[in-house]
Amino acid sequence: MAEFSLPKNSKISKGKTWTLPPAKPGEERKVRKFSVYRWNQDDGKTPQIDTYEVDMNDCGPMVLDALIKIKNDIDPSLTFRRSCREGVCGSCAMNIDGGNTLACTKACEDIDGDVKIYPLPHMPVIKDLVPDLSNFYAQYASIQPWMKTQSPAPTRERLQSAEDRKKLDGLYECILCACCSTSCPSYWWNSDRYLGPAILLQAYRWIADSRDEMTGERLDNLEDPFRLYRCHTIMNCAQTCPKGLNPAQAIGEIKKLMVERRG
Ligand code: SF4
Ligand code: SF4
Ligand code: FES
Repeated sequence: MAEFSLPKNSKISKGKTWTLPPAKPGEERKVRKFSVYRWNQDDGKTPQIDTYEVDMNDCGPMVLDALIKIKNDIDPSLTFRRSCREGVCGSCAMNIDGGNTLACTKACEDIDGDVKIYPLPHMPVIKDLVPDLSNFYAQYASIQPWMKTQSPAPTRERLQSAEDRKKLDGLYECILCACCSTSCPSYWWNSDRYLGPAILLQAYRWIADSRDEMTGERLDNLEDPFRLYRCHTIMNCAQTCPKGLNPAQAIGEIKKLMVERRG
């Protein structure tokens, strides 16, 4: 049997616990603990889990509210991404309570016990909860995510029937948060060559658009044993998507088109 040991710097140790100061007389508290992954490439230490106590009577309901409270009132060094606070920008994606989701739409009360927060799995970490998404964005650029046409531009916009517009439902809502790709075992092991569910869903969004005129070229770009065919329909992607989308289905549609065009 193969034996291996993890490199020393991959071991996670117990970090600091930040307790609340004693309650004032008559003060009612609802204390929750947040265990958060910390890693700073500049301090030379291995990753650690810091635990923060937060009084939920003095904090908004979402996990992102608690992280912002921790950063503002307890530990300003805690690092994470966020922007819209309403599930639109995709920047606060992280692993919460064992699943990839958006911190701004995940309610603390939907989590039992201590709230455990890690960065999106299997991605290089820049700091704390911030993953390096460079490869993910390069893969996105590789599918040329814009409308490509050959016919002369009409005097006004290119129109689409209501029926054709409907074909984009379930695709256009993707916010590129990467929750799906980082929950996909095939992507974990082959992210250098497999595009993963998020990027393939985006690729299909342009293939399915009746106004785009480069479907053949787009399919050629995906016809590859790794870029497309590493999806084994494990379905983690659909299970985890915080927008309720189904990337596996979009991948299935691309595969169907590949078969159809081969005749
Ligand atoms: S269905 Fe495909 S893309 Fe989705 S998690 Fe499974 S292997 Fe990955
Ligand atoms: S399909 Fe869902 S999980 Fe994947 S990137 Fe888009 S919004 Fe995020
Ligand atoms: S902060 Fe924009 S999706 Fe969470």
